[in-house]
Amino acid sequence: MEILVTGGAGYIGSHTCVELLNSGYKVIVVDNFFNSKPESLKRVQEITGKHLKIYEVDTLDEVTLEKVFSENNIEAVIHFAGFKSVGESLQIPILYYHNNITGTLILCEKMKKYNVKKLVFSSSATVYGMPKSVPISESFPLSANNPYGRTKLMIETILQDICAADKQWSVAILRYFNPIGAHESGKIGEDPSGTPNNLMPFITQVAVGKREKLSIFGGDYDTHDGTGVRDYIHVVDIAKGHIRALERIIKTSGIEAYNLGTGIGYSVLEVVKNFQKVTNKKIPYVILKRRRGDIAECYADPIKAKTILKWSAEKNIQDMCRDAWRFQVNNPNGY
Ligand code: UD1
Repeated sequence: MEILVTGGAGYIGSHTCVELLNSGYKVIVVDNFFNSKPESLKRVQEITGKHLKIYEVDTLDEVTLEKVFSENNIEAVIHFAGFKSVGESLQIPILYYHNNITGTLILCEKMKKYNVKKLVFSSSATVYGMPKSVPISESFPLSANNPYGRTKLMIETILQDICAADKQWSVAILRYFNPIGAHESGKIGEDPSGTPNNLMPFITQVAVGKREKLSIFGGDYDTHDGTGVRDYIHVVDIAKGHIRALERIIKTSGIEAYNLGTGIGYSVLEVVKNFQKVTNKKIPYVILKRRRGDIAECYADPIKAKTILKWSAEKNIQDMCRDAWRFQVNNPNGY
């Protein structure tokens, strides 16, 4: 079965390609390589010993995207392609809306034209906005605090409307909590450009000596140690969640959203402690004021994915730290 993966060279996309190939799917990747490198796909092929078909195409490029559909026998799509930085989305909102939303609309249009109506969409726990309590289940009210989050929420709404209008569509929306870690081979992992915004890549860059110290954003939250609590989940577990979702949409129709999280929250200080323990590296840090837009606690109720997709996270926080570190050591300057 041929699966189209948009944004397949990115962090979660590349790990998902590994799992798809290992599960026997044929994989066609569409990526514009704006925030990723072709090297990641070379390594996906090294890890699996299998071949990928790669198109350097932007989802906004209607003509070339159509060619991808006409040249292949695509049966389902996993859609990762999109901009993902909260801070950047506040600076350049028009580009964010255009790229993420128009890109998805063009993709859906081509899917409809070629009668490919099975889609797994890469969403985020950011669609829960400021949740009123934790753990967060899929039925919680949705909202967003920034343009990036709003693009995810709008796309979810668009997909709901598409499925309401045509019952042949089958869509799984996957709401990721905080993916970290890397493939255990140390060949693929997170490769942010510039200064990392997210916690784990910042920690690994401190550990490898590229940055002096970690700034912890807020030590006065109402959490057990005052630092923010998140549901960190190994990227390989996230990737495997896509395979379960794909298997599900292939045999059903309609639209469902699933949380992909572990259900366990760790504070920033607990992540630092676990990282230090498994790597034997000291992470100097300072505690600064809160980062705008951050919430105190965010972790999933993962029961829906467990019950319906028969998926749950298998790797623990130490696996996540160890694997993130292995990728950083093997690739001190990224790909
Ligand atoms: C962030 C985004 C979210 C996005 C997700 C995945 C914001 C406000 N939220 O989530 O929309 O879906 O990434 O890309 O940007 N921290 C530090 N120091 C750092 C970095 C982070 O203390 O240098 C803390 C944060 O305050 C937070 C935790 O570490 O408590 C995790 O932060 P991060 O990795 O950026 O993820 P989120 O903020 O949960």
